[in-house]
Amino acid sequence: MTYCKTAGSGPNRKSTTLTAPLFARRGAPPPSLLHLTMTTTLESVDLVADILRLKKERNAVILAHNYQIKAIQDVADYVGDSLGLSYQAKETDADVIAFCGVHFMAETAKIVNPEKIVVLPDKDAGCSLEESCPGPELEAFLEKHRDKNYYVVAYINCSGHVKALSDVICTSGNAVRIVEHVPADRNILFVPDANLGAWVMEQTGRKMDLWQGACYVHVEFTRDSILKIKEEFPDAPVVAHPECTFAVRLLADEVCSTEKMVQYCRSHPAQSFVIVTESGMLHRLRRELPHKTFIAGPTDRCACADCRFMKMNTLEKLHRCLDTLQPRLEMPESLRQRAEIPLLRMLEWSR
Ligand code: 13P
Ligand code: SF4
Repeated sequence: MTYCKTAGSGPNRKSTTLTAPLFARRGAPPPSLLHLTMTTTLESVDLVADILRLKKERNAVILAHNYQIKAIQDVADYVGDSLGLSYQAKETDADVIAFCGVHFMAETAKIVNPEKIVVLPDKDAGCSLEESCPGPELEAFLEKHRDKNYYVVAYINCSGHVKALSDVICTSGNAVRIVEHVPADRNILFVPDANLGAWVMEQTGRKMDLWQGACYVHVEFTRDSILKIKEEFPDAPVVAHPECTFAVRLLADEVCSTEKMVQYCRSHPAQSFVIVTESGMLHRLRRELPHKTFIAGPTDRCACADCRFMKMNTLEKLHRCLDTLQPRLEMPESLRQRAEIPLLRMLEWSR
């Protein structure tokens, strides 16, 4: 997952040759190992410098989600959650938005700011929540249940097609507020995340019908894995994302979006926190709050949780997309216009 692994295969690969005797004299690690480390470091410096050059040439802005690898977070102009990224995408003066996140996030940027060229490092970076609610299935469901006259609240982790079928969009950062705005006489259908939807029902007391989608990363945290880490670090508050299951949310001291995790840990007097979300968040927290300690909430299987989609992006791919302006987000204008309505409603309701 780390940058070091991928740096050796990028388009800008430059070899720095250091000879074996030099290493031997200084009693350094074996040449092969040190050669790899130094080559990688010099390459990453070159690659970052060239990304910055391209960014300037293209008048681009680099937006990155909190789950991106450290190297991408460090080169980005803005790192944040889905809500913050949507505002940044809408308000930027840049000509090009290089969106380092997953596909639905870049698509959202294009929907709210269609004049811009929106590129993403890897067009195949999807999302299990988006997959769990295909547009045609939602369309058929709404048709079948016309009598319910649903007000559809869609979590932003969904396709443009699903957004176009919805009345309002929400993120984990504003879901409670958005649902509180929905007219009281309407039945709500919440798609696609059943865990986030259940959490919003707990917070608002508003009944909703829930689409049964889930994030494959967050459901890996279990009651047992969190109980174990709490035993090990009894003084560390547990901070969990609302995409986690009910059993895990019950054990958390705070349930919130990734951006609110930064605010919570900043203002809380504790020195250590258990963070129950995707692993990239740890870098963001350690960078913002270097004097505090962040412990990765474990799953039953491993010490930290990586989203394979978020981790498809690398510095090389970011460099390439800035260089070639491909892959680029394109969508039919009629679909974009339809999807823009619930997104703008969200931005307005969460101000
Ligand atoms: P945030 O909006 O809280 O960053 O969440 C996005 C996401 O994909 C969580 O899995
Ligand atoms: Fe989707 Fe889960 Fe990855 Fe977030 S962490 S992008 S919800 S698969």
